[in-house]
Amino acid sequence: MPGSTLVTGIGELTTNAPGGPGTRDGDPTGLVTDAVVLLDGGRVAWAGPAREARDAVGHALDGREPDVTVDAGGRAVLPGFVDSHTHLVFAGDRAAEFEARMAGRPYEAGGIRSTVAATRAASDDVLRAGLARHLDEAARQGTTTVEVKGGYGLTVADEERSVRLAREVTPEVTFLGAHVVPVEYAGRADAYVDLVCGEMLAMCAPHARWVDVFCETGAFTPEQSRRVLEAGAAAGLGVRVHANQLAPGDGVRLAVGLGAAAVDHCTYLTDDDVAALAGSWTDSGTRPDGTSGAVAGTVATLLPGVEFSTRQPYPDARRLLDAGAVVALASDCNPGSSYTSSMPLCVALAVREMRMTVAEAVWSATAGGALALRRDDVGHLAPGARADVVLLDAPSRTHLAYRPGVPLIAKTWRSGHPHP
Ligand code: NIG
Ligand code: FE
Repeated sequence: MPGSTLVTGIGELTTNAPGGPGTRDGDPTGLVTDAVVLLDGGRVAWAGPAREARDAVGHALDGREPDVTVDAGGRAVLPGFVDSHTHLVFAGDRAAEFEARMAGRPYEAGGIRSTVAATRAASDDVLRAGLARHLDEAARQGTTTVEVKGGYGLTVADEERSVRLAREVTPEVTFLGAHVVPVEYAGRADAYVDLVCGEMLAMCAPHARWVDVFCETGAFTPEQSRRVLEAGAAAGLGVRVHANQLAPGDGVRLAVGLGAAAVDHCTYLTDDDVAALAGSWTDSGTRPDGTSGAVAGTVATLLPGVEFSTRQPYPDARRLLDAGAVVALASDCNPGSSYTSSMPLCVALAVREMRMTVAEAVWSATAGGALALRRDDVGHLAPGARADVVLLDAPSRTHLAYRPGVPLIAKTWRSGHPHP
């Protein structure tokens, strides 16, 4: 159990805890200036303005001195990033495919199959080493919670292995046997869906928290997707969906209708899709700031690394936000459509290309990701939350977008443990 750490001299603290000490009314990011954060036993013990810290910290520590004190020197602090969408169990890379795309070739869902061949051929240790390398890379960029999908195995044994290895590194594991129809089932997609809903799900569900499907032309139809998601839900898994990435389609409304925690990509949306996403929050009577109990809406998770790497148009975050939908940002780190693990890059792209304000983008990359994973212990800094904290080498969170590509993560704490 980590001891206590007091971080003082914070120029700008993003708490995502509206109503907390020192926050302003109507600011969902709960920004506090000249602030202090106290971590104790792996949890946040207190966060608020320096002027209230003396009494609050003394009270929280019961008169003990903090074990460690860190002076932020006027720099900015925020919750660790919650990357709610990655595909990190894979082998090989597709740099040549990326290069061809940049020379004018379109992105196609079928590219997934080349990673499937490399992943099947890899040993457990090669896959474990890849996972560890990418997770370390993400941690150095401020990610403290990560979801990991399978989906590059596409046999019962290879998908079981994928989710089992993912479960060694995170509880947020997603079964994605329905990523694409594998070559050996070409022309027999329904037979493959039978396998996914039957033996594959039975072997994978014990390691997974979520079920996912790629509902898109070239992958699975809405009917096939519904079968997979309903089977997963019947096996006790939460629902999330890849949809509307390459063209408009029925995936978003299918996801909302099934009460999915998130529908990811959302690049091509109709007005009905946007209304369905927004309505999922108002209809369920829950509020995205988590102030009214259980979360039941469907988060629209936007993945700007994909549009960057596939030269597609960026999703219109402004349209979703203005309609009242809840937006998360995630990396979609995978070797095909988005080979970045950088949440700061996603924030920068969202601000520059998707008409999000800095405050909205930072919220979506932290609290939004937590909602997309239906987690109430991460993505914010309030007493009781997990002590997942990022200290920036910058005076404000704006620098995440203002200084793209610059390594701005000075220090990270995960469950109160410091890195580096
Ligand atoms: O999220 N959309 C489907 N799956 C991945 C693509 C994976 C790949 O191209 O290998 C995605 O973009
Ligand atoms: Fe994905």
